[in-house]
Amino acid sequence: MENQISIIVPTYNEAENICDIIKSIKSNLSEVNAEIIVVDDDSPDGTGTIVDEYIQSTIQNDRHSVSIIHRKNRNGLSAAILNGVENSKGEVVVVMDSDFSHPPDVIPKMLDKIEKTQCDVVIASRYVQGGGIEGWPVKRKLISKAATEIAKKGLGVKANDPMSGFFAFKKNLIKNISFDAIGYKMLLELLVKTADVNIQEIPYTFTDRKFGTSKLGSSTILDYCKSVWKLYRYGKEAAKKERRLSVKFLSKAARFFTVGASGLGVNYLASILFSTSLDLWYIHSTIIGILFAITSNFFLHKYWTFGDRDFSLKRTVLQYTKFAGFSSISGLVQIGMVYYFVNEFNLLYPVSLVLAVGTAAFSNFIVNKKWTFNEKVWG
Ligand code: GDD
Ligand code: MN
Repeated sequence: MENQISIIVPTYNEAENICDIIKSIKSNLSEVNAEIIVVDDDSPDGTGTIVDEYIQSTIQNDRHSVSIIHRKNRNGLSAAILNGVENSKGEVVVVMDSDFSHPPDVIPKMLDKIEKTQCDVVIASRYVQGGGIEGWPVKRKLISKAATEIAKKGLGVKANDPMSGFFAFKKNLIKNISFDAIGYKMLLELLVKTADVNIQEIPYTFTDRKFGTSKLGSSTILDYCKSVWKLYRYGKEAAKKERRLSVKFLSKAARFFTVGASGLGVNYLASILFSTSLDLWYIHSTIIGILFAITSNFFLHKYWTFGDRDFSLKRTVLQYTKFAGFSSISGLVQIGMVYYFVNEFNLLYPVSLVLAVGTAAFSNFIVNKKWTFNEKVWG
């Protein structure tokens, strides 16, 4: 189905709620292709069977499909949600509770937001202007607030309601993340492990459930502390790694430019040598000088700049060809840029030269790093 979205609804003992919530989701998404995936952890109250019967007895229409994942063991809400996500087909995934605390009429607004802003994550938020909580005792409100502050200050999360259980995201966002999935906080883990994502929040009012009871117990607080600790360590590690990568990148760039500068010397010396000692025509000497410089640059880059010690013939020739090719293109780019700067922008020649040499050398570095020596650009 084209442009399908997936709605993940975890359940544990939601016999009174589950059919109504499915119907309500469907009626709020009459214009949208959606699959609803219920993830049930073998609820003792028979929620799983109720959903099986619902699926058998309803005629599935073109827009909506309902399926259920039966899990044998109960090992946390995050784990259940992830299981649903792994089995989803949509590019956009919505996660929500099954007990009507998360009003289904907010879903279309979330989808709208993703479409209009092209953001990666939409959080239905209790803690932005216009949002709120109804029916919770003061104690629970306080715990929720405290947990939220810890996440914002301690983990540097840039959302007002990182504890929300009601959110939507683009699935490709999480393809490189490995989740620990401890406890309840799938969204928090997602936010910590995806730096620099575009997050949007829309207000909603959380209303406490009418049927059944909350599954959040005292162990939830312990789980939360564990996961905050893990995520904190994760953040520290990631920052360290990032620093190491930038040091690597800069030192390689420095070596690349040093070798480049040495090439000028080789170029000059070789040209002079050939024209004086062998008495060659000066144009020929210049060409030989350039070839010498390209060759010495290549071997220095291979051995020193990028630390590549594999000198097998085929590999080396291929790399040499690519390097010579990219360097020539970079030379042409440089000429083009100088011309453009001087003629179109009326810049002084020395200024134009600096800009053009800088840009050409830098792009030459990147291109060779990536395609000649097959490294990642960053690092
Ligand atoms: N499959 C599965 N396994 N589902 C579970 C489990 C589990 O172990 N535990 C809870 N659920 C389901 C419930 O059936 C419900 O649909 C949803 O997850 C939320 O559980 P509730 O027990 O209703 O949680 P809550 O209302 O106290 O907490 C809500 O607010 C928190 C924010 O303070 C939830 O929305 C949380 O996700 C949210 O973080
Ligand atoms: Mn609830």
